[in-house]
Amino acid sequence: MGLKGRDFISVNDFSNSEIQAVFDTASEMEKFVKKGTDSCKGRVLATLFFEPSTRTQFSFQTAMLRLGGGAIGFSDTSGTSVSKGETLQDTIRIIEGYSDVIAMRSSQPNSLSFAAEYASIPVISGGEGKGEHPTQTLLDLYTIKKELGRLDVKIGFYGDLKYGRTNHSLMLGASRFGADFHCIAPQELQMPEEYVSRLQKERLPPEADYETMKKAYHVDNSLMEKMKENSLLMHPLPRVGEIEDSVDSDPRAAYFRQAANGVPIRMALIALLLGAVE
Ligand code: CP
Repeated sequence: MGLKGRDFISVNDFSNSEIQAVFDTASEMEKFVKKGTDSCKGRVLATLFFEPSTRTQFSFQTAMLRLGGGAIGFSDTSGTSVSKGETLQDTIRIIEGYSDVIAMRSSQPNSLSFAAEYASIPVISGGEGKGEHPTQTLLDLYTIKKELGRLDVKIGFYGDLKYGRTNHSLMLGASRFGADFHCIAPQELQMPEEYVSRLQKERLPPEADYETMKKAYHVDNSLMEKMKENSLLMHPLPRVGEIEDSVDSDPRAAYFRQAANGVPIRMALIALLLGAVE
């Protein structure tokens, strides 16, 4: 079964070979990231963002523009009829009449699959509450494969693992490609049990207060000195003080390259779901 017409709400919506097909297409798309192509000429992407976003929203829009298509959408419902009480199902029914593919972010559990039920066009999750962020996982895995050459790596998850949907999705996706995990967090912020697989939980003391935790999670050059040479420091961004700017020049600091990979990955996904490429 091809990817044309499909939704992408969870990492588990795609098989490993389908994820590999997205990576192969993204690799092809890299040559069009700046100069563009016309494979989606005349097609329209709608970005419905009920929660704030910089990377996901704008890289989806950039991806469609680089594919030769157009983009509509909102990042704040105050200028839309959602603010007048229009339901999600009616919003989706209207937007599908104006577009060919929808990328949506919401804080509400199950709202993405609800939207996909009502839409006759592909719906892609741009992140859902504390659940999943599947396109972030695609670009995270793509970055690991591109930089380290393999996916059966050891991943240390560090920080707020309870509410961080990027961690939840990456754990789901990476476990299917043979990765192992270390989860380093205080008890209160540990990875939810439903995402746990081949896991070492390394907990900070439960009595640690917020300031202690913040200091404990701080990444600076002295921590980088303890990292292996052939390793990556990844972060979905935005960072809010947990990685020092001085770390940015370390070649293992991959977070800006990681964010940039969102464009070819989302170009590939959009083009495949629209059947614009095989
Ligand atoms: N990585 C990520 O989801 O960033 P945004 O919230 O800015 O989209």
